[in-house]
Amino acid sequence: MPKLNSASAPGKIILFGEHAVVYARPAIAVPVFQVRAEATIEPRDDQRVEIDAADVARQYGLCDAPPDDPLATIIRLTCARLGVEARGFSVRVRATIPVARGLGSGAAVSVAVARALAKFFATGSTEKEKTEIHSVSPVAELSNDDISALAFEVEKLYHGTPSGIDNTVIAFEQPVYFIKGQPIESFRVARPFLIAIADTGIAAPTKIVVGDVRRAWEAEPQKYEQLFDRVGMIAQMARLAIEQGMLGALGTLMKMNQALLREMGVSSPEIERLVEAATSAGAWGAKLSGAGRGGNVIALVDDKTREGVERAMLDAGAARVIVTRIDPKGF
Ligand code: PMV
Repeated sequence: MPKLNSASAPGKIILFGEHAVVYARPAIAVPVFQVRAEATIEPRDDQRVEIDAADVARQYGLCDAPPDDPLATIIRLTCARLGVEARGFSVRVRATIPVARGLGSGAAVSVAVARALAKFFATGSTEKEKTEIHSVSPVAELSNDDISALAFEVEKLYHGTPSGIDNTVIAFEQPVYFIKGQPIESFRVARPFLIAIADTGIAAPTKIVVGDVRRAWEAEPQKYEQLFDRVGMIAQMARLAIEQGMLGALGTLMKMNQALLREMGVSSPEIERLVEAATSAGAWGAKLSGAGRGGNVIALVDDKTREGVERAMLDAGAARVIVTRIDPKGF
């Protein structure tokens, strides 16, 4: 039975459209359920709020946290949104999502904490506590949209101009066709497909890479607008390919997207090595996923090619490979 005071959230990968999505072109992302962040809220006898994030070796009080601390921010924002006071509880966060690999660890932690707090205040404390201790009015309920909006505020701390794709796909836990500032669009997955996710072992510095792309766009606006347009068109075509179960076309679109990301200057020798290894071993297509320069490479495989592609990417230097199935029955 799920615990009343805890909640979890999956990781994510961007299948198509990273970077261009910051400039309002469409992108496609899917949740990755093999990795998760989990948050648990426990009541305390004193008035303090204690944060325990052992994965990143951090234990501290809310009142000692710097103003831009992501965990403190999501706690403060969620409590404000719920209409309760942030006092008298502990927040424990555990995650199996590798940090800074383009798998959405930051957004997943935010979503898990916001959901756990919403549950805790709605059901984890008594009626008397809810009104007398935490709040003078009934505790607000949070929709997926609310949770996503709260996590988006924290995403802004990681890099100033997030598109919002990470918090959206993670809060809704379903494949999304995403355009910045527009309502979430889900779509039909006609045929299940497998994605091998290979870790380069190198941190993907989202803030730095997004900043570099911005500077390049400012220096050569025409070139970059064209690159973003082409990426946007690829995302549009990829949606059709997924809706019609055309895996060959999807693989080709991944290769085309990777070529444009390379032209944008966000690939790296390690990424290229894994992309090459995957396609040589029979993947339908492969590309970087997330900000780039490190992080993960994703490869479209099937049951026949899966093992060979996994092995080839490990031999080419991947720190680890996980395979996720994008299955319409799973959503
Ligand atoms: O957080 P990451 O590394 O998955 O990168 C997010 C994808 C970008 O398009 C590069 C940035 C954004 O906000 O969409």
